[in-house]
Amino acid sequence: MEDERERFLIRYAGGFAPLVVDRAEGAWIETRDGRRVLDFTSGQICSTLGHGHPRIGAALQRALDELIHLSSWMLSEPVLALAERLARLFPDPLEKVILLNTGSEANEVALKLAKLHTGRFEVAGLTRSFHGLLTGIASVNFSMAHAGYGPLLPGAFAIPAPYAYRCPIRHCDGACDCACLEVGFELLDQQSVGSLCALIAEPVLSTGGVIVPPDGYLPRARELCDARGMLLVVDEAQTGFGRLGTMFGFEHDGVLPDLVAVSKTLGGGIPLAATVTSAAIEEDCVAKGFLHVTSHVSDPLPAAAGLAVLDVIDEEGLVERARERGGYLLRRLRELQPEHEQIGDVRGRGLLVGVELVADRESKAPADELGTALTAESLRRGLSMNIVRAGASANCLRLAPPLTISEAEIDAAIEILDASLRAVLGARPELAAAR
Ligand SMILES: Cc1ncc(COP(=O)(O)O)c(C=O)c1O
Repeated sequence: MEDERERFLIRYAGGFAPLVVDRAEGAWIETRDGRRVLDFTSGQICSTLGHGHPRIGAALQRALDELIHLSSWMLSEPVLALAERLARLFPDPLEKVILLNTGSEANEVALKLAKLHTGRFEVAGLTRSFHGLLTGIASVNFSMAHAGYGPLLPGAFAIPAPYAYRCPIRHCDGACDCACLEVGFELLDQQSVGSLCALIAEPVLSTGGVIVPPDGYLPRARELCDARGMLLVVDEAQTGFGRLGTMFGFEHDGVLPDLVAVSKTLGGGIPLAATVTSAAIEEDCVAKGFLHVTSHVSDPLPAAAGLAVLDVIDEEGLVERARERGGYLLRRLRELQPEHEQIGDVRGRGLLVGVELVADRESKAPADELGTALTAESLRRGLSMNIVRAGASANCLRLAPPLTISEAEIDAAIEILDASLRAVLGARPELAAAR
């Protein structure tokens, strides 16, 4: 029988979740058939304040009453206030802001500015990176979705991700020493036509399998970029505004990017993104005729939501909360690990946590089918998690609840995960084998 949800919708990502949602509050989603589900994906990793935060609602209501949208060259109070707020939040000299809508767009704009400023076009990204699915930015999106859409942008290069559990250059085992980064830049130098423009990186590679670079990775990347006159672009779509236990992911080891893209977590569920850079880069690009006008650049309504999000993060101490609760979540998962041979690796920073599933810890063979069955069973039992990809496999669970999550809710999630793993393997022991 045809699924009613598929009758009029293009299936943009394979299929849809086996439920329809009526409402959501805090970390909980309520389905049409009255079930409550713990949301360990924060929507699409956007709802860091939890669902239905009254402050976002109030800000939106005010905007609906006063001002929703304007011509792109007209500015409004929420836009001016948010730009100033962001400029003050970022370290010097990052003080120039453009307000956009999605993560793909914020990254595209960052790379447009980088190209115009340097006069070069070659951009490097990390293998297993995800930066968005519009054609320009997808060219340096190395975790998925290159096949079938024709040519990508020339000058897109991949360097190996610092994936310590499965070292891409077969060098480290469990602890990355950044050899992959040195090798990556050697490869880059040998392939370049002399137009190296920028490196784009996530502080933690989320969609590519929650890969946490070792301390010192971004500072060394900064040095390697500087030596070549390349800019460093940091994509904070998932990590900005607290998720990793610092306001921004790049702060972890004190690196200063040239351009930063923030998105998902800025709007708390409302489409809002920003690209931030220095006055020097902005002035140079404007002098060269920088152009990026869209229907919703500098829109007042999403800016009002962004201001509310920043207020709540501050007032509720959510950055510290993410650090604490993230530590708790990691500890609970590591306690669970010895009980299940299929939990190969538990890793993460703050409230961005990955659990890599394997046939057994000795072989480390990716257990893709187990991942699919486990997320389905967990959802049935009331816990929504993503399965994300680690290389060619899709065997990494990603746990990224709202930053407002309580310890009791984390305990409930661990209980469901544990019970689901036992139930799935009890019913289908063959899933403990490799993919
Ligand atoms: C790190 C990162 N950058 C960029 C994007 C793209 O953002 P959007 O889907 O808003 O275009 C995503 C989306 O998942 C992401 O995770």
